[in-house]
Amino acid sequence: MPAVAAVAAAGEWWRTAVIYQVYPRSFADADGDGVGDLRGVIGKLDYLHALGVDAVWLSPIYRSPQADNGYDISDYQDIDPTFGTLADFDELVAGLHDRGMRLVMDLVVNHTSDEHPWFTESRASTDSPKRDWYWWRPPRPGCRGGEPGAEPTNWHSFFSGSTWEWDAATGEYYLHLFDRKQPDLNWENPEVRQAVYAMMRWWVARGVDGFRMDVINLISKAVRADGALPDGAPVPGPSRFGDGSSFYTNGPRLEEFLQEMHREVLAHGTASGEALLTVGEMPGVTLEQARSITDPAHRELDMVFTFEHMRVDHGLSGKWQLRPLHLPDLKANLAAWQEGLAEAGWNSLYWNNHDQPRIVSRWGDDSPEHRVASAKTLGTVLHMLRGTPYVYQGEELGMTNVGWATIEDYQDVETLNFYRESVSGGASDGEVMAGIGPVSRDNARTPMQWDDGPHAGFTTGTPWLSVNPAYPQINAAAAVADPGSVLHHYRRLIQLRHDHHVVVDGRFALLLPEHEQVFAYTRTLGTQVLVVVANMSGEPADVTLPGVGAALAGELLLGTHDAAPGPDGDRLRLAPWESRVVLGAVDGPGRAG
Ligand code: NOJ
Repeated sequence: MPAVAAVAAAGEWWRTAVIYQVYPRSFADADGDGVGDLRGVIGKLDYLHALGVDAVWLSPIYRSPQADNGYDISDYQDIDPTFGTLADFDELVAGLHDRGMRLVMDLVVNHTSDEHPWFTESRASTDSPKRDWYWWRPPRPGCRGGEPGAEPTNWHSFFSGSTWEWDAATGEYYLHLFDRKQPDLNWENPEVRQAVYAMMRWWVARGVDGFRMDVINLISKAVRADGALPDGAPVPGPSRFGDGSSFYTNGPRLEEFLQEMHREVLAHGTASGEALLTVGEMPGVTLEQARSITDPAHRELDMVFTFEHMRVDHGLSGKWQLRPLHLPDLKANLAAWQEGLAEAGWNSLYWNNHDQPRIVSRWGDDSPEHRVASAKTLGTVLHMLRGTPYVYQGEELGMTNVGWATIEDYQDVETLNFYRESVSGGASDGEVMAGIGPVSRDNARTPMQWDDGPHAGFTTGTPWLSVNPAYPQINAAAAVADPGSVLHHYRRLIQLRHDHHVVVDGRFALLLPEHEQVFAYTRTLGTQVLVVVANMSGEPADVTLPGVGAALAGELLLGTHDAAPGPDGDRLRLAPWESRVVLGAVDGPGRAG
């Protein structure tokens, strides 16, 4: 058995896997209503199989009022009619399994929809048996409920405004870290936890192979013994809100809850007795916490989505104020996670998802001159790291930001709430839109570009969100037909992980940490060294890579530029946005990993 297959067969199939994220609303619309659906995904399984991915992570398809495009669930055990039926779902799972691929479900259990029966029962009266399934609190002492400042704490919601919504009928507030239509579940209550585990077991029995857990590190709140939730520190500026994040991020019982979930559900594996893949989305998680959570000995999760590398270009006021990337900051962060999870734990690797702007527009160059090379090079530096790579739909095509200039074009609840709050706080439309254009989540959510036909082949109807006008040039049909496309580069990157054990398990070492143009590193396993060297700029780069001259003379596994000049010892000239992956031998004695 080849080494890589042996690793996979040992149970931890996700260590050699590449996961593809489908955002169903924007992927493929089979019934012509302008919204993507499960039958649309079923129709594209051969495309995904040809790309070579091992599993699909499906963003939420549960019944939902769609206030946050499905991250607001009103029935965990049914499919939203927009997306199809349970029969469609079963067919999708069977279609994936028949092709040797797996399905990872999105598990959204920090909160439900306010239309979930659990919540409607909870809000019915203060003595409802489900009252304590959510976080209800009276107004601040001495204040009248519903008035600004009467909220139980000063926390600012991820989606703007207060985290508390006044419920006049029962005279209390409920907590929602996200939109007011997304009330937070009270994980302190064991009945809530058992209901979640039962629901998870139901999906496992239906054939799912893993869970991506939405903001799972927010489930434990730092509640005081008397039930109080404290105010957060004031934030600079005129805002009346404070930063409550220390009271709900990586809370005191997080690992206890994850261990319980492991015992109750995860340890039992899939319906066919294999390991479930588990990845926890964790804004604000530290490397130390991630190491503990992903240490197999702790029996919690396989890997987490860190946000740290996604924040290296954030301005002082956060995500809505992007600054140009300073490459050494990104390299330092990725290297810290590579090294920090080398012994225990495991990394997930991602540039894109449905919440992030398109990477080629953010850290690459989406001009016609450099788009293809920069998208390939970004893919290369990510995929050759140690961990499980995630590809977000359209990333493999080098899809670009749409960056609309007027707020009327946007649909994302986070974007719209931010716009309203900023403008009502005195900012001009121009200022706010300058922040939104490069960052809004709708950049990732424009429909998948399948071909150069009407609406990029996404729908025969009117798409729910406009198609990016770049689709005549950037689309899957053109990419499939062009051996030099970003798509075929991603296919080769995925294949490298499947073929070479050093890509899976090689020890990571960063080269040239301070270099502002070049991202270079090695992965070492036994006598093999993989050298990854990438020019992350639009100017040529001359580099010297001390200590890896012998390895550089090895086999070029993948490059972005044909007929690139070979290395001269440990020196190399790279064209703009050129990258290379070379497999060679350890340079001299004593360096084996
Ligand atoms: C994280 C999800 O990725 C995002 O899309 C969603 O809005 C929030 N969690 C709330 O569920």
